[in-house]
Amino acid sequence: MYVQASSAAARRAENTIKLHGPDDFAGMRAAGQAAARVLDLLVPEVKPGVTTEALDDLAREFIFDHGWIPACLGYKGYPKTLCTSINHVVCHGIPGPRPLREGDVLNIDVTVIVDGWHGDTSRMYVAGEAPRKAMRLMDITWEAMQRGIAAARPGATVGDIGHAIQTYVEAQRCSVVRDFCGHGLGQVFHDNHNIVHAGRRGEGPVLKPGMFFTIEPMVNLGKFGVSILQDGWTAVTKDRSLSAQYEHSVGITEDGVEMFTLSPAGLHTPHNPSLSSSLAPAAAAA
Ligand code: MF3
Ligand code: CO
Ligand code: CO
Repeated sequence: MYVQASSAAARRAENTIKLHGPDDFAGMRAAGQAAARVLDLLVPEVKPGVTTEALDDLAREFIFDHGWIPACLGYKGYPKTLCTSINHVVCHGIPGPRPLREGDVLNIDVTVIVDGWHGDTSRMYVAGEAPRKAMRLMDITWEAMQRGIAAARPGATVGDIGHAIQTYVEAQRCSVVRDFCGHGLGQVFHDNHNIVHAGRRGEGPVLKPGMFFTIEPMVNLGKFGVSILQDGWTAVTKDRSLSAQYEHSVGITEDGVEMFTLSPAGLHTPHNPSLSSSLAPAAAAA
């Protein structure tokens, strides 16, 4: 079921997907650009010797200095602004005092609230130079996200997005994490519908103009199983294989998709800047 996001029904309904209007797109554009600017800010800061806590401090101060709100700080008890997920950490790594080492690869995920709208995005970064297999995994993960976004348009289904991602990733003999997925968002951080990154063509809800959600595939070099550490947050691969993730917040338009969280500085792929010059048509047009 779909409802206009501004209606009273949307505030009551639980199993509905909100459809947003032009003002809402403007709100998401501002929030998405804010979040992307945080990730841009961190690009030159990631290097061996830096702690993820220091990166978190930079991000938090930048966000507060602009009058924005860090959505993760205090969210369900989460203690930090960023999620920093290093090497075999799949997602929700908590920034801490351990300095990055040469060759560490990490996902940095941030969600910024601007005027009530949530911009949620993540990219992969490298401290120094990454091992070849890590570079390959990160390239595959970015391409998987791009293919998922390219499958998103009115009339397509949530399953089409998952199918595009899963078939590509598995053809590279990597695996798609099942325990975490993309999500609707807007004035709510995690809203209907779940965007599972594995699926079958034609299955799931039909995409309609005005839907807002994230596409955020987590891809493992080994098997897709994850476990959660004692801290209650940190998700790691069960087989301790490397994991990577990229995330954009997007909106379905009349004829395609708008990416709210594109990097204003063009730093779309910090792990491999040369990839940024081969943006998919969907990205290049936005
Ligand atoms: N930004 C994450 C996402 O993509 C959510 C992190 S929730 C937190 O949905 F509490 F762990 F920060
Ligand atoms: Co996120
Ligand atoms: Co998200």
